[in-house]
Amino acid sequence: MNSLYCVTLEDVQEAEKSIRGFVHTTPVMTNSSLDALAARKLFFKCELLQKTGSFKIRGALNAVSKLPADKTVAVVTHSSGNHGQALALAAHMKGIPAHVVVPRNAASCKKAAICGYGARIVECDPTDESRIEVAAQTVKETGGILVHSNQDPAVIAGQGTIGLEILQQVPGVQAIIIPVGGGGMLAGIAIAVKAIRPEVKIFAAEPVNADDCYRSKRNGKLTLNASPPNTIADSVKTSIGHCTWPIIRDVVDDVFVVTEKEIKVATRLVWERMKLLIEPTAGLGLAVVLSTQFKEVTSDLKNICVVLCGGNIDLGSADWLNEQD
Ligand SMILES: Cc1ncc(COP(=O)(O)O)c(C=O)c1O
Repeated sequence: MNSLYCVTLEDVQEAEKSIRGFVHTTPVMTNSSLDALAARKLFFKCELLQKTGSFKIRGALNAVSKLPADKTVAVVTHSSGNHGQALALAAHMKGIPAHVVVPRNAASCKKAAICGYGARIVECDPTDESRIEVAAQTVKETGGILVHSNQDPAVIAGQGTIGLEILQQVPGVQAIIIPVGGGGMLAGIAIAVKAIRPEVKIFAAEPVNADDCYRSKRNGKLTLNASPPNTIADSVKTSIGHCTWPIIRDVVDDVFVVTEKEIKVATRLVWERMKLLIEPTAGLGLAVVLSTQFKEVTSDLKNICVVLCGGNIDLGSADWLNEQD
């Protein structure tokens, strides 16, 4: 089955060997008050406690590790978010210069984090076209290799290592819920888990305001977000792509969407009940578990793992915290 796709179980297993010792095996936590709200047993895979504050270091480090160190002059990417930080650290670990293309209006804390891991920032206009164009230009100028944040097979394989860990840490798991942006994490986990335990359900969680994955599944064809989405789950504004779509189409069981209100409620619940400072994107999984629709269609599933994918939040700019509703 797997050879039909850009990534196989063997790729994920190789990635696991290549990043082992350089990234954390993140803990799985439980919480009885959230179990009561969900009416089942929940297992939270804490990738917010991963190096760089998100799972992204897994894929970035695997991709950089595969490059010939003596011939690679630099790596390049366009991401103001978690992948930019992760690639910066991965390149630093391997002694390779990194150039990260960032929109000039990106939050200064994000730029500082990327610089802090030793990468050079290259500014672009705040549009997708400009990011792609400036990244291509940077590749030309530096001779570097572009490492895409979610469509590079080595990145997808690296993210899949989360799935291998979950199967070890939660042997009784019946379903895994994974936030989806470009789909690298979702596709990697799906390939790994379905090859080993095909009966485990793989569900995607997405904001209703950025529902390209949901609509692609319903339409049976890759359907991108028409315009830049408006959601507090800012790490999943990007659409799925040509590498991740076939895996999502064939291997992922279903996609659930949630509203901004549901994401906010779930994020606060994790902060307050679990004392874990997740970013709103990581609230997507719990938001899905608590939604009426999910409860109705999956009532037979008793042990569910929710991936808390990251914790990089700028609390100073989280205006929604003070909203009265
Ligand atoms: C914290 C976090 N969660 C989820 C995602 C979505 O990952 P993917 O693009 O692989 O679907 C991202 C991507 O930037 C992220 O940073």
